[in-house]
Amino acid sequence: MFGHQYDAPFGIAPVGLQGLMWPKAPEILAKAAFEHNIPFVLSTVTTSSIETISEITEGKAWFQLYHPTEDRVTEDLLKRAEAAGCTVLVILSDVPSFGFRPRDIRNGLSMPPRMTLKNIISVAKRPEWALRTLINGQPAFETLKPYMPKGLDMSQLAKFMDATFSGRLNEEKLKKIRDLWKGKLVLKGVESVQDVETAHRLGLDGVIVSNHGGRQIDVGQASVASLQTIAPLFNDKLTVMMDSGIRGGADVARALGSGAEFTFMGRSFMYGVSALGKQGGNHTISLIKAEVTQIMEQLCCKTTSNFSDFIVKK
Ligand SMILES: Cc1cc2nc3c(=O)[nH]c(=O)nc-3n(C[C@H](O)[C@H](O)[C@H](O)COP(=O)(O)O)c2cc1C
Repeated sequence: MFGHQYDAPFGIAPVGLQGLMWPKAPEILAKAAFEHNIPFVLSTVTTSSIETISEITEGKAWFQLYHPTEDRVTEDLLKRAEAAGCTVLVILSDVPSFGFRPRDIRNGLSMPPRMTLKNIISVAKRPEWALRTLINGQPAFETLKPYMPKGLDMSQLAKFMDATFSGRLNEEKLKKIRDLWKGKLVLKGVESVQDVETAHRLGLDGVIVSNHGGRQIDVGQASVASLQTIAPLFNDKLTVMMDSGIRGGADVARALGSGAEFTFMGRSFMYGVSALGKQGGNHTISLIKAEVTQIMEQLCCKTTSNFSDFIVKK
């Protein structure tokens, strides 16, 4: 895919704030992805920088771009990604505004974490997380540091994020990025035929059919259903990939059988690292690889493209 032979048909989706879930989570996952020869996609708003992740992956990581309101920030981020050797840029299209997540609001999720009594008790119950966070220091938006004024408190940080990013994407913005970025360009978060048509018309190289794991709105159809409509129409025009709701090898096989050329997972890898720390990346990738292989063997598939022979067509 995109001129590279990967060792498995799945990769690690971009996830923000990873270092809050487990210290150094993006670095752990990027290293495991590199060792297993699968793609790791770095989020603009996670806790490691483009430069650090590129070094760990020898330039093999992909970079996911949120939409800066100022062109100079977009241009600088793209220059940094290119200088770091990144060959695939993923543009996010499904966060026109931040999702309404009552549980996050109730729990006081913030960067840096707010020290309420509830959070202090929660931290005390997880001594290894607390100790490692103490050793590694407070997680920060490393990729965005050069654009952030120093010493922002929480409400200033929220204002900075609102002012710096505007999630609404349109053709004009996409065209600009297409002109600026010489590498492979992927649109993430599409669910409709019209949006894939637009991506194709503007010369993008791939799409990730995704509903953001249901984090933006959780009442739409499953992404695998959208995929079944989109894939037959576009598989010969651009690379059609999928994420959202994939938890293991059986789901990877179902997605590939439904027309995806490649799949991504967000939560599965975060669960792995949050449970097992440093071993979590390798463990989760190995487990899902074994599950995919097992299904191939049981179905007598020679390649992962044979999965479609075993999907019941409506
Ligand atoms: C905690 C969390 C944070 C996320 N942050 C980002 C992000 O910064 N950028 C992005 O493109 N997608 C983000 N996503 C969406 C994932 O890239 C992916 O689309 C989603 O996790 C797939 O669903 P799954 O978790 O069921 O595998 C996030 C998902 C989660 C769970």
